[in-house]
Amino acid sequence: MPVAIEIAPGVRCYPGYLDRAGQEALRDEIGAVLAAAPPFAPRMPRTGKPFSVRVSNCGPLGWVSDEMGYRYQATHPETGTPWPPAPARLKAVWAALAPGAPPPEACLINLYDATARMGLHQDRDEAELSAPVVSLSLGDTALFRVGGLNRGGPTRSFRLASGDAMTLGGPGRLAFHGVERVYPGSSTLLAEGGRINLTMRRVTKG
Ligand code: SIN
Ligand code: FE2
Repeated sequence: MPVAIEIAPGVRCYPGYLDRAGQEALRDEIGAVLAAAPPFAPRMPRTGKPFSVRVSNCGPLGWVSDEMGYRYQATHPETGTPWPPAPARLKAVWAALAPGAPPPEACLINLYDATARMGLHQDRDEAELSAPVVSLSLGDTALFRVGGLNRGGPTRSFRLASGDAMTLGGPGRLAFHGVERVYPGSSTLLAEGGRINLTMRRVTKG
């Protein structure tokens, strides 16, 4: 098993999980996914305010958000077509870091520019909470913040660099987390700069 750092109970970081060649290959595969399923700006439930990240998905289900709420659906909200399949390379990361869990159904692709952020939240739109959330980061380094199970509790911040994997599982599955900032120019992986975060989840009961 790769080396894990336990940041908080059930919150693990795997620095340098993917080497440069693996990062480049995954970057190119995600580029092909984005060509078929163009990034869109999710909107906050009720207010309709757009998020600062743009998103897309691959796999049988994708996470979307608009005035009707957060949900998973099988098709792109703007093109109406099914999400592209998840690259095998990505599913292999799930198999390694979530052994024994049912296969992932959704991979959310979050795209951060130099000013994008993500507020503290829990990932709890999934019916299957026994499977971990498995995430991979590509491109510019992010300052990631993780807390406990209650909003407003103590938090810790740490950096997620290109190639780092992270899991939220067991007692950390519902930990509050968010992205405080991205450090522009901290990686040469993406020609246009910015950060890509890939988050795999099991959605339905497995
Ligand atoms: C998320 O919580 O969906 C994204 C986390 C990240 O960008 O690292
Ligand atoms: Fe999240």
